Amino acid sequence: MKTVKTVEEVRAQVKEWKISGLTVGLVPTMGFLHEGHKSLITRAAAENDRVVVSDFVNPTQFGEGEDLESYPRDIKRDEALCLEAGASLIFHPEVSEMYFPDACTMVDMRGELTAELCGKTRPIHFRGVCTVVSKLFNIVTPDRAYFGQKDAQQLAVIKRMVRDLNFGVEIVGCPIIREADGLAKSSRNTYLDSQERQAALCLSKAVALGKSMAEGGEKNAEKITAAMTALIKEEPLAKIDYVKAVNAETIKPVTEMSGEVLVAMAVYIGKTRLIDNFIFKA
Ligand code: PAJ
Repeated sequence: MKTVKTVEEVRAQVKEWKISGLTVGLVPTMGFLHEGHKSLITRAAAENDRVVVSDFVNPTQFGEGEDLESYPRDIKRDEALCLEAGASLIFHPEVSEMYFPDACTMVDMRGELTAELCGKTRPIHFRGVCTVVSKLFNIVTPDRAYFGQKDAQQLAVIKRMVRDLNFGVEIVGCPIIREADGLAKSSRNTYLDSQERQAALCLSKAVALGKSMAEGGEKNAEKITAAMTALIKEEPLAKIDYVKAVNAETIKPVTEMSGEVLVAMAVYIGKTRLIDNFIFKA
């Protein structure tokens, strides 16, 4: 396994693999890797001959006042985890390698898919994600690319973008990996002090509550989100951004638990914004 910093090096390596008839999986990440990322890499390594992991804190998906500068970084640790999980190549570019100073082309998605849920508080976020993921698809030309359901809206957005723009890549969604006590693994969990870490459990507890209500036959989506909201509100350190039920594919709000429903939330624990969700198939 090696780490490269330029587009040219990635292209040369992938070209060599493709000449030999090998399949290529891509796992896009922003680094500071944990077991969640590792599960994607392991799955990619099981389903492809070679795996490229991109490790790049993408500035275009961070809004004003967000945590671009403080976002945790540790390439040495990331390299060890990638090696263990079976990656073949890490693409770890500088911002200047990914973005020309006068770049003026972006991939923007209109409509509910990007306007709802996280799109409301983070209006430019998905434009940055679509742009960088498009660039990674063009650089790596993978057969398959792996994304976590942890970011369920992102997964829906990427699937739609691939459909709309005819990218020749199969998108594989992977389940949420959690800590032993239920908290969804996230690079941002490192921001939490010990009191906040405890308070953050209200997200996974709300997920568990909502899921059990849905599985118990509750059809009214608003009753489910209201119960989840009430549970989170019991935690003094938590401030709700949203708790919402939407169609998992279109991200359109739903009132009934029918079809494939994504029940998603974003909650501030102190200054840290955390997300969690579950998908219910009726
Ligand atoms: P990042 O937050 O580093 O996440 C990289 C991938 O790991 C995403 O597909 C995310 O859903 C997945 N992931 C994170 N935590 C997970 C968990 N607990 N269980 C399962 N999968 C998990 O998402 C991004 O980076 C960026 O937006 C990116 C797509 C790389 C574009 O910059």
